Amino acid sequence: MKTTLMLSMVIGLVFNSVCMHAQQVSTKNILIVYLSRTGNTKVIAEIIQRNVGGKLVAIELQKPYPENYRQTVQQVVNENETGYLPPLKTIIDSIEKYDMVFVGFPTWDMKMPPPMKSFLHQYNFAGKAVIPFNTNAGYGVGSGFETVKELCPNSKVLEGFEIKGGIERDGIKLAIKDEKATAAAIKVKQWLQKIKVTVVE
Ligand SMILES: Cc1cc2nc3c(=O)[nH]c(=O)nc-3n(C[C@H](O)[C@H](O)[C@H](O)COP(=O)(O)O)c2cc1C
Repeated sequence: MKTTLMLSMVIGLVFNSVCMHAQQVSTKNILIVYLSRTGNTKVIAEIIQRNVGGKLVAIELQKPYPENYRQTVQQVVNENETGYLPPLKTIIDSIEKYDMVFVGFPTWDMKMPPPMKSFLHQYNFAGKAVIPFNTNAGYGVGSGFETVKELCPNSKVLEGFEIKGGIERDGIKLAIKDEKATAAAIKVKQWLQKIKVTVVE
């Protein structure tokens, strides 16, 4: 009797640890949204889509940022200071049909870029799994993943993925290509396994 009880407790524990953390989702209910100026975050978004399927959507602004890097940095610093949320051109229809939303963005000013804040403010992610990913010039994600948690308080925010991308300041725009894209694809796969995202048709 005691052994049976112990055994069922052990089985229960194992079952819980395997199943409670697994993110099993239909590929139809996955949305992958990304912001990308020079293509690095877009490459990661496409790798994620190759692994899990889902709908891929680029965030576009009603008024794009300047071509010039320095001007863009200055505009972003100002927007961060005032909390300005730039209006988006992108519209997601029927956000409610998605159970899992990947949100990708570069680090700008060591923060989440203002357009991604606009996006997260605009839609309701309650009850969904939200999975952030990021590229940066080598200084890391900064406060970006924390901001995802703040802006999606009723979502299950999973561990994010972060990788070095371009350094536009030094003229390096798209860096995640060729062998770097191959290496990134391996890292993305490992991360998806770690956070236990498994997809059913
Ligand atoms: C306005 C702006 C600000 C940036 N600020 C940072 C920063 O604070 N830290 C960092 O590591 N990289 C910074 N970067 C570099 C980008 O995060 C990096 O190049 C990223 O890979 C770009 O992604 P994308 O090609 O998808 O646009 C900045 C880039 C821009 C355009």
